[in-house]
Amino acid sequence: MDVKQVDQFAKEILFEAGKRIRAAFSYDIEIETKSNANDLVTNIDRDTELFFIEQIKGFDSTHRILGEEGMGEKVDSLEGVVWIIDPIDGTMNFVKQHRHFMISIGVFEDGVGILGYIYDVMREDLFYAIAGEGAWYNDSSLRKLQPLSINEAVIGINANWVTPNNKINHDKIIDLVRTVRGTRSYGSAAMEIAFVVSGKLDAYISMRLAPWDIGGGTIIAKEVGAIATNFNGNAFDFLTTDTFLIANPSIHQLILDQYIEEK
Ligand code: IPD
Ligand code: CA
Ligand code: CA
Repeated sequence: MDVKQVDQFAKEILFEAGKRIRAAFSYDIEIETKSNANDLVTNIDRDTELFFIEQIKGFDSTHRILGEEGMGEKVDSLEGVVWIIDPIDGTMNFVKQHRHFMISIGVFEDGVGILGYIYDVMREDLFYAIAGEGAWYNDSSLRKLQPLSINEAVIGINANWVTPNNKINHDKIIDLVRTVRGTRSYGSAAMEIAFVVSGKLDAYISMRLAPWDIGGGTIIAKEVGAIATNFNGNAFDFLTTDTFLIANPSIHQLILDQYIEEK
């Protein structure tokens, strides 16, 4: 794969997809539910994924696409070049708030993350990385994350997890919330990851994410020294869903050891 050429192409189609999504607000968006009443999808999610598939196949028909909406072929291995795409991450924000939703793309070659993109469609802000070369926020390079203490950390977590639940020990999460400087919840995993890699958040915790939520983000994470794992401290498996913690390297292990206890 010619990395520079694919990078240029990826940015072109991201910006074009962004334009199409912004234009979609001028006509009716059709909203449906998926696995439950709060799991939303729209015609725009599907149209955007189809747009990416057509463009990528036109660029190189050997590249495969693993997209959230399943509009491409079935992908059950990461052999060759695979694009992992979430056409709209934060669909509820898209529908309800008309902002704070991202396009997330990770380009993998034989299972290794090579190019990562998180694009804030309404702000027209791009976070991206080229493996081994660095990470950028638009035209500015992102610096390595600086050490900090847990008391200084601002973390992304959904308020559900401080209430009794069957996934984790919520008392430990209460302890974490009391220990850190502040908490935030943005409603788009890709946005929260983009904030961690650029130091606007110091950690983000999720009980269940899919490959397309984090495919782009984990590639950017590596370039700035953020650590991304599941709750067992292992690398995320890009062919299934898993628990997820991304954090500044100075607090990642501490959060796993002291504050996360799965049931
Ligand atoms: C969702 C968002 C949300 C996260 C969910 C994801 P979607 O993605 O990233 O913040 O908590 O787990 O499924 O459905 O809007 O693409
Ligand atoms: Ca998503
Ligand atoms: Ca999505």
